[in-house]
Amino acid sequence: MIQYVIDGGRPLIGTVLTGGSKNALLPILAATILYGGPCEIHRAPHLSDVENLLETLRYLGAKTHFCGDVITVDTTSLNRYDLPAEYTGRCRASISFLAPLLLRFGRCSVAYPGGCAIGARPINYHLEALRALGNFRITENGCGVEVQGTFTGGSYSMPYPSVGATECALMAACFSPMPCRIEGGALEPEVEDLAGFLNACGGRISFVKGIWQSEPAPFYLHDQTLRYTVIPDRIEAGTFALAIAATRGEGRILGCNPAQMQGVIRLLRATGAEVVSGQDVLLVRGRNRRLRGCDLVMAYPYPAFPTDLQAPACAFLSTCYGKSAVLDTVFPMRYAHVSELGKMGARIALAKAPGGEPYISILGGQLRGGRGESTDLRAGAALLIAGLCGKGRSVVTDRGFVARGYEAICEKFRGLGGRIWENRIY
Ligand code: UD1
Repeated sequence: MIQYVIDGGRPLIGTVLTGGSKNALLPILAATILYGGPCEIHRAPHLSDVENLLETLRYLGAKTHFCGDVITVDTTSLNRYDLPAEYTGRCRASISFLAPLLLRFGRCSVAYPGGCAIGARPINYHLEALRALGNFRITENGCGVEVQGTFTGGSYSMPYPSVGATECALMAACFSPMPCRIEGGALEPEVEDLAGFLNACGGRISFVKGIWQSEPAPFYLHDQTLRYTVIPDRIEAGTFALAIAATRGEGRILGCNPAQMQGVIRLLRATGAEVVSGQDVLLVRGRNRRLRGCDLVMAYPYPAFPTDLQAPACAFLSTCYGKSAVLDTVFPMRYAHVSELGKMGARIALAKAPGGEPYISILGGQLRGGRGESTDLRAGAALLIAGLCGKGRSVVTDRGFVARGYEAICEKFRGLGGRIWENRIY
């Protein structure tokens, strides 16, 4: 258990550096199986989710090494195709192993994935994608899924642009003997980054007129080292942008890609914060400004406002003058932070739209120090932002969720002048 102790009420001022994207890195780690040789992945953040996937790769027979921000993975000697719940239960992204294991072994057995409790997270689209792109026998046994067969190529029209299922489909498509088409897939930059990695492995994936396509490419084991650098973490950068504005500070976020952050930039500007974007830097100014709430912030698939910044945005909007409303269409039950933010002075509640769907209603005001419990990764980030805003001491308890997705978050906030420390409670 970790306890974040925060003395809040001070504006965050200064410069912070963005790390590599967790959500890009995790499927890429699974996809190293499709290279079947030594891979060097650069700009890798030290996160517990990353450690979990490296442990999983070692269980499967791969060799891994993590030094500085470079991960080396060699999957040449992979020798297992089963993933028990002991490995998959810790991290949702473990479902990314499905297609790579199938390609290497023609069969796999993967227990259902775990991950943050942010609502139902089924894998039906992943399995539909496999059925559409191959000739597989799929058996679900209540604990996981067993799949056996071969990739044939084909088309899959996705009923919803699920990030994980699109990634599964791309991995299934890239070494198929026949062309593949994936319509209605996700467009998130992390999906594009995976496609870039798959092409570096020898795949022939392209994105034309809204459709992911792949031409047949041969799969073989490589002996030359493949070097790949993951994209910056737009969610980490967005969290810092919201934290700076929420504390009415002024800061530069370096090493990010503002072109991939339009949803959060639009929100910040709509409240009256000043945002200046360069090629790889974002400047956020909230100092001495009276920021106002937003009528309706809707989390939708990319390029709209991201669900992963919905909770941090709630913390920010709780400091903005007037009313705001927030609706998450991606994970409609991702609302556990609402009651916890309330313990830190936020005037925030769940409400029902005329159609019956739940949304978050916020009346901005002053936050104060309080005690909250982080219930998932992004809810944890929201509470840290609230703690940094509220005058007085806050204590946020956390069962390791924050470390799943934010590297050195206390050091980074302290670099901006935040007073925040972490204690490990055993
Ligand atoms: C990924 C991200 C996560 C982010 C989410 C949405 C990683 C490791 N995680 O998660 O941080 O919040 O995208 O941007 O990249 N769904 C189904 N059936 C499926 C798959 C998904 O019904 O087979 C539903 C989910 O319940 C959810 C919605 O689709 O309501 C979006 O899920 P999805 O895009 O798949 O998210 P993940 O890939 O799990």
